[in-house]
Amino acid sequence: MFKQSPNSPLTVPAAATPTETPATTPVAINGFGRIGRCLLRALVESNRRDLEVRAINELADPATIRHLTQYDSTHGRFPGPVDLEPATPTGHALRVNDHTIRLLNQPQVAALPWRELGVEMVFECSGSFTDRKTAAQHLAQGAQRVLFSQPADRDLDATVVAGVNPGTLKPHHRIVSAASCTTNAITPVLQTLHRTLGIESGLLCTLHAAMHDQPVIDAYHHTDLRKTRAAFESMIPVDTALAAGIGRILPELDGRLAARAIRVPLANVSAMDATLQLRRTTTAADLNQILQQAAAEQYPGLLGYTEEPLASCDFIHDPHSGTVDASQTTVVNGRLAKLLIWFDNEWGYACRLIDVATLWLATAKNPQKAPLTRGVGGFPSAPHPPPAK
Ligand SMILES: NC(=O)c1ccc[n+]([C@@H]2O[C@H](COP(=O)([O-])OP(=O)(O)OC[C@H]3O[C@@H](n4cnc5c(N)ncnc54)[C@H](OP(=O)(O)O)[C@@H]3O)[C@@H](O)[C@H]2O)c1
Repeated sequence: MFKQSPNSPLTVPAAATPTETPATTPVAINGFGRIGRCLLRALVESNRRDLEVRAINELADPATIRHLTQYDSTHGRFPGPVDLEPATPTGHALRVNDHTIRLLNQPQVAALPWRELGVEMVFECSGSFTDRKTAAQHLAQGAQRVLFSQPADRDLDATVVAGVNPGTLKPHHRIVSAASCTTNAITPVLQTLHRTLGIESGLLCTLHAAMHDQPVIDAYHHTDLRKTRAAFESMIPVDTALAAGIGRILPELDGRLAARAIRVPLANVSAMDATLQLRRTTTAADLNQILQQAAAEQYPGLLGYTEEPLASCDFIHDPHSGTVDASQTTVVNGRLAKLLIWFDNEWGYACRLIDVATLWLATAKNPQKAPLTRGVGGFPSAPHPPPAK
């Protein structure tokens, strides 16, 4: 269905070379919601051995954690058995494909036992924390690195989008963000078009699937009045910091873009509708050719390209950061371009968390051998079969 580049994750099961990563790095997931669970599953589906999930901290009860790990309304059943081990004096544990993961139920980061468990990296996926101070508590508890699953605050050591600005990652960094799913989806396209045709300005509109902060029926749960409305009854405009987030990754575009976001009544998969004023004239065919080539050469496995007449459901469980829908590319008067980019905001992003973590560990372990040139792409990612429903 998709035009896969030769090095796409669907054709290359290889992870980073063994010299780049340690045999196994013990990691923990803090916050085991949509992204936390996709992350665990992406690790399992990609058959990785270099990142070992040693602990999960989540406020839900163990039986519910097991249930929602095993059964997922969007991605289907977990590929393998998921069980709870009998509780011991040290607490509960989840057993996933013969691997035991300690379950913690601790809302205070300052009380998490990372040193005792030997956890080296924490994936901060709770959505509750955005600040350096909290990340520093993870470090004080014994972790060596914290990777946020969201843009978080500006004063982190780095914000990294796989394939777009990997060179910003330094061995000494301790607190890093993998940016947002939307930033991951659009920045490979923006980077490519700014290099080739030049971007004067742009308006970006994210059509984003529903999120954890929306109620199923109208409810008094949010200070943003639009977010008090039933998620599956309306398209709901929400605030977005996307334009500023892109400026962090591509400073050359800072101030040239504006963004808006509309939550749409879908459980998963989003789309970016991008309108760009270009410096040089082009055609839709040339623009598609540029993006197709970039997908294959600069961002293999990260940026997809398709000419098929697809709908959002076709991108469920798609591991790319984003996929250009060539059939929707339009150019007016040579310099006003409109593009549509699909992305699985859950799965694609979970795969990128793994990529950034792997790259970070490789950089830290072997700073001389930097696989960090801009746009190098080809990150280890997951060979993903379609979800079993
Ligand atoms: N979903 C996406 O498409 C997506 C994509 C990219 C990035 N992100 C970002 O990833 C983060 C998580 O999003 P999500 O969609 O996975 O949200 P989610 O489904 O609500 O998951 C977050 C989980 O963390 C738990 N949690 C909250 N505070 C905690 C704490 N102090 N300690 C341990 N667990 C805690 C939550 O429990 P309670 O429900 O009890 O609070 C919830 O189960 C957010 O920052 C989001 O912006 C999400």
